[in-house]
Amino acid sequence: MRIFIVTFCLLSLSVVALAVPNAAILEKGKALYNGAGSCVACHMEDGKGQPSSVPPLTGSDWLDDPDRTIAIVLRGLAGPIKVNGKRYYSAMPPQLLFDDEKIAHIVTYVNNAWGNKGAEVSREQVAKARAELPVAVYTPEAILKAFPFDKRKGRSNGTFKPDFDDVLADVTVPVVYRTFMPGASPAAFAVALPGNQFYCWDAGECRLRYVWSKGGFIRGNQVHWSSNGKPVAQFNGIPYYRARSSLLKPEDYQYLAESGRRTPFYDTTEAVDFPILVEGMKESPKFKGYRLIRGYPEFRYQLGKHEFRELITMAEGRKGITRRFFMEPEAPITFRLTPDEAALVSTSAGVIQKDGSFKLTAKQAKEFHITINERNPLTPQPTGITK
Ligand code: HEC
Repeated sequence: MRIFIVTFCLLSLSVVALAVPNAAILEKGKALYNGAGSCVACHMEDGKGQPSSVPPLTGSDWLDDPDRTIAIVLRGLAGPIKVNGKRYYSAMPPQLLFDDEKIAHIVTYVNNAWGNKGAEVSREQVAKARAELPVAVYTPEAILKAFPFDKRKGRSNGTFKPDFDDVLADVTVPVVYRTFMPGASPAAFAVALPGNQFYCWDAGECRLRYVWSKGGFIRGNQVHWSSNGKPVAQFNGIPYYRARSSLLKPEDYQYLAESGRRTPFYDTTEAVDFPILVEGMKESPKFKGYRLIRGYPEFRYQLGKHEFRELITMAEGRKGITRRFFMEPEAPITFRLTPDEAALVSTSAGVIQKDGSFKLTAKQAKEFHITINERNPLTPQPTGITK
């Protein structure tokens, strides 16, 4: 009997030690969680999140692995997820305000607040993750591959294939999909920028195709998860900027937004109107890949011996996009934009002509930018998923 009591006491002691982290740490974590611009802004003070746009932390079945939580906090998460059986299709930006110790306190607090019972997290654990995790924002698939759910608990999947009508409408981190887009070659990117600017960039022709801002990002049907490209992605908005192409007639663009299954891809090898003209150069551009800079894609392409890099971010004032170009080695160029009634276009150098073209000297072409703003922007945008 005595032995039994001793064992029992020891057992409960160790359980207590694991279940209740130091009160001072919980206090610190609570204050950090509730600080300005912190988790509270989205997940709310009671940890319950916001209906259909921000998932709960209270009782969340995602909190079973503290290393996964640390990864989400450090790198962000964007895409369709299921939390406690409910669907969310949104984006969480990386939380850059906190050092390792603060994140340890916050995660420890979240793991033990509102009736949650979870692990205490150490500063070292966060430091290791910060040093070792890949830097891009996680997709649900990537995070669940790196930190899978415990199958023994009968839970194997925390993501879902969005329905046709799930739309990422309130973008807080850049979202990049390699997918099949209407009016573009099969090698298209669909990109959503924080502040809700959306564009299609065509790697087949190494150029921006179109930009839109209203109606949310591409619809969440299965297209960007499979690569057979039978249906192309759809979106609700009408592009306010559409780049000209010899292979697309204006009427092809007319119903671009709804053209989902009707406007197919076309053969890009024939496109003869690359928008950047380098004197004496007749070659077609070659796509050399892209990298992510703070989550924003920078596209790289080659025209003869010249390499171009193009980085697209939100324009100042959030009414459009800014395209930053770097040319190496530099040479005089003519750049041909497409005049569009719905867009206001400006450039860092050169004078834009009526036909949308402008010339740059070699020195100007080394580094320049183009801003494309929507003439009639619409704000505010809807929040969360629209269903
Ligand atoms: C700008 C809003 C925002 C902030 C700030 C934010 N989150 Fe999130 N968080 C989200 C959204 C939205 C998702 C769901 C992302 C998706 O749909 O892919 C999410 C998902 C999560 C998840 C996984 C799902 C779940 O509900 O368990 C965890 C864990 C999480 N956040 C923890 C945190 C912590 C801890 C902080 C503060 C350090 C924080 N978040 C700050 C918006 C935010």
